[in-house]
Amino acid sequence: FGPMSVDVRKHATFEPGAVCFGCHPEDSWTLCAIDAVEGNGDQAVYVLTPRAADGAPRGAFRVSAAALAPVEDEWLKPVQDLLEMTVLHDSLLLEQIRRRYWVDTVYTKIGPIVLALNPFCYDLPLYCDSRMPLYIEEREQALDGESQLPVHHWSVAHNAYWSMRTTHRPQSVLISGESGAGKTEGAKIVLRYLAKASTYDAPPQDKARATALTEKIYVSSPILEAFGNAKTLRNDNSSRFGKFMKLQFGPEGYLHGAHTTNYLLERSRVVGHAEGERSYHTFYQLLAGASAADRAAFGLDPPGQFDWLFKGVPRTEEDVARDAADYATVREAFGIVGFREEEVRGIYSVVAGIAHLQALQFTPLKDKAHLSDEDFERLQFVCGLWGCNVDCLLAELTTTTTHIRGDTFTVHHTATQASEIRDAVSKALYDGTFQHIVRRLNEMLDCQATTQPTQWIGLLDIFGFENFRDNFFEQLCINYCNERLQQHYNGCIFERDLAEYSREGIDAGSVSPPNNQPTLDLIGAKMGLFDLLDDQVKNGSDDQFLDMAETKHHRHKSFRKSRIRNGTFGVAHYAGEVWYRHKDIRDKNLNPLKPQLRMILRDSAAPFVAGLLGPDPEADAARAQRGPETVSRTFANGLQELLDTIDRTQPHWIRCIKPHHSNRPRVFSGAEVMAQLQCAGVLETVRIRQNGFAIRLPHEDFGARFRLLAAGPRPDLRQLVEQLRFQPVDCQIGRTKVFLKNDPYKRLEASRNTLLDQVGTTVQAFARAKGSAHGAHARRLVQALVRVQAHARTSYSEWVRMVRERMLYDRRCRTAVLLQTLGRARIASTRSWHKHVHRCLWTVQAGCRAQVSHFVVLNKQRQYHQALVASTILVQQHLRGVHAQLGALNRQEALADMLTAELEVIAEMQEQRRQAEERRRQALRDKVRATMGAAAEGLEVSAAELEAATAAGHFVSDTQT
Ligand SMILES: Nc1ncnc2c1ncn2[C@@H]1O[C@H](COP(=O)(O)OP(=O)(O)OP(=O)(O)O)[C@@H](O)[C@H]1O
Ligand SMILES: [Mg+2]
Repeated sequence: FGPMSVDVRKHATFEPGAVCFGCHPEDSWTLCAIDAVEGNGDQAVYVLTPRAADGAPRGAFRVSAAALAPVEDEWLKPVQDLLEMTVLHDSLLLEQIRRRYWVDTVYTKIGPIVLALNPFCYDLPLYCDSRMPLYIEEREQALDGESQLPVHHWSVAHNAYWSMRTTHRPQSVLISGESGAGKTEGAKIVLRYLAKASTYDAPPQDKARATALTEKIYVSSPILEAFGNAKTLRNDNSSRFGKFMKLQFGPEGYLHGAHTTNYLLERSRVVGHAEGERSYHTFYQLLAGASAADRAAFGLDPPGQFDWLFKGVPRTEEDVARDAADYATVREAFGIVGFREEEVRGIYSVVAGIAHLQALQFTPLKDKAHLSDEDFERLQFVCGLWGCNVDCLLAELTTTTTHIRGDTFTVHHTATQASEIRDAVSKALYDGTFQHIVRRLNEMLDCQATTQPTQWIGLLDIFGFENFRDNFFEQLCINYCNERLQQHYNGCIFERDLAEYSREGIDAGSVSPPNNQPTLDLIGAKMGLFDLLDDQVKNGSDDQFLDMAETKHHRHKSFRKSRIRNGTFGVAHYAGEVWYRHKDIRDKNLNPLKPQLRMILRDSAAPFVAGLLGPDPEADAARAQRGPETVSRTFANGLQELLDTIDRTQPHWIRCIKPHHSNRPRVFSGAEVMAQLQCAGVLETVRIRQNGFAIRLPHEDFGARFRLLAAGPRPDLRQLVEQLRFQPVDCQIGRTKVFLKNDPYKRLEASRNTLLDQVGTTVQAFARAKGSAHGAHARRLVQALVRVQAHARTSYSEWVRMVRERMLYDRRCRTAVLLQTLGRARIASTRSWHKHVHRCLWTVQAGCRAQVSHFVVLNKQRQYHQALVASTILVQQHLRGVHAQLGALNRQEALADMLTAELEVIAEMQEQRRQAEERRRQALRDKVRATMGAAAEGLEVSAAELEAATAAGHFVSDTQT
């Protein structure tokens, strides 16, 4: 229960029927209705029923008063930045995050931190890849909270990129969170965004060059993941090392190169793993995907001989297929980045050799370590792969030889000791191979040597704070790292707060940052736990270390001594107390590999193996003077370098949160999220805020809420604060907000609640007084009531107006969110939403097309029909015309025939007439001749004469006759 809640709870009423937050064992803070209160006072037990609309329905549960927190609608106003909430309390933080999660808004801001809840689903509509250009196109206008777009990994990358471009200062994106929370995926999202944003407007040739380089940087991921990631119970692809990748940019802002630094590879996983987990991916990939030639060269058949790799995890066909595909990807990636073929073979020869070496079984024979013939042959094979002498290696595994004053003494190892030495060889070689890969990647991708990058952005993907049931040396290192990063973060946050105070004109003299330096000193300072551990290197033991730690630090405020001697010690970290076991702490810190074994491996005939163990024997000797390089020391030095680097940058924080350990979408466990918020330092952010002026109310809100406490008519803000008698250390008026510390705010709320109670009591008293009729008492009460009401009304009406506006706004937001949720729920109801929609669209399109084509056909048919009818009519008309014409023609023909016949008749008649005429003429002629007698004999009468004579009436023709 956070400090804020104590204040508020004091004045809240937890009565049956009320709604409040209750701390559920699995859901943590959740909205509940109070069903009943059993008992009273401090002993009261509250029966609550959760009201959560989402997630698993829960039954009623019982809690004490300490597990209750009040709630008001106004406090739950949706905000993107949780520090904008007026009241900051764990319950309210969790409820906001929970509500956002259920509407698929998995990214939230809390001050400068971006909280990223792992959605375990890449299909969230708000963050789909097609929206990336929206962020890119905002360019430098959207720096530091100016953006209108929802917060996301992209907004962090965007801020980092444009801050680098505009301020020319290096930037860092610090991603942390527990295993499986999404750090590595988040870092990839940031990298992809930076690569794309940096060349968004670039000319094609620059774009092509940057894209080729980006491709190389991308493909370095599968290589590093193959050798540095493994399946664990918490994450199928868990990074077993910390990584800081410096992305280098040229003056024009294009990506030029990358440099990777790695931290604390988990060496113990090389030689064994817990049930249900796996060793590093590369072992399985090689076994599943090697070519026939490689299988023969590395002796990989039958795979059953490597049982140690499959402890507790049955090898399914699906796994084999995936590993084989991954192997092909990694081999290809080696080629793309520029590894030589013989180098890659060297790498895999070490991997195969370790797989064989770890399969060796040392058996005890008369208290000495012994190898069966079969295992000896296997060792011979390993030595063949690594170019070592088998007898020398066997001798160093099973015996230790010392030379004292010319005499040689040989001590035989037990089977367990021999196995431990074998493990040390495997760990050293694997670690050497991993470091070699990182070094070579840097040689090929780092442009420092060639182009002098002017700007860079560092991407830190590092293990988050860990607190398991059993914590060991690894957790101590990891938590030390987180403690240091938290200190750095606290400093930055505090600075930001100071900046806001100065913007608002607030004197922040009384505010101090939280300080975790004592815990850091306990672990890392001179004579701290790491130093004590290093002291055990020579002839020490785990128990001696614990004794020393308890003796030296039992008074230290961050050290916890166990009451019973059970081999544990506790450290009070910023995220809570962690108890560490001292088991194997000395060996884990030492990483022992006998110098003789180093020599054997360094003298290997295989150049790759010979180069793996770093410096030469002379350097070893020099180091022996200083004492061996311990893991804690190397880690602490690396960490110091990292922090020095980060200190030079402007930091951006992403805290990844895993909503549930089941690694499935849409499952949310309040308790798990709450624990992570604690470990991620998010609650620490709230605490920093609470150390300073935790409450920041805009002027008008402050006035509207507390003006009813003032005497006299409507005082202004300054008069109000004066009347409330605040000291400057408690309350100050800034340019836009009133800044208050927790305690004065508590007092203010208490006074306000008391006054409101009095109003209620007065009203009741007045009613009673009025009921008993008369008297001065009643008049006084009336006057008091009128005064109080007058005060209350003026302040209250303003307050009510604002609340109404807020409620309206809230309701609108809720409706919008609800609509979004409904929409998204529909969308998310199937994982292949896009496909589904596409399929639907295709079906609809096909239907539409079918309909359309159907209509078109129908239309065409109709048109055709109409055309046909029209044509038919036309044809009919035509035919009728033709018919009519034909009839006419026929008639004409008949007429013609008739006329012809008539003409013929006429012609015949004419002929007959002519002939008759001729005959008549002849007869006439004959008659004339006869009439004219002989005198006329000899006269020839011409036809014309005859005609003329006839015309003159001398003769009458036959026709006329
Ligand atoms: N942004 C994301 N969207 C969807 N799924 C994601 C996202 N981030 C992570 N995941 C899922 O969560 C799994 C774990 O993520 P990741 O490997 O990044 O975790 P991690 O924090 O790096 O864990 P570890 O510390 O073990 O390396 C991924 O394999 C992926 O399935
Ligand atoms: Mg990871």
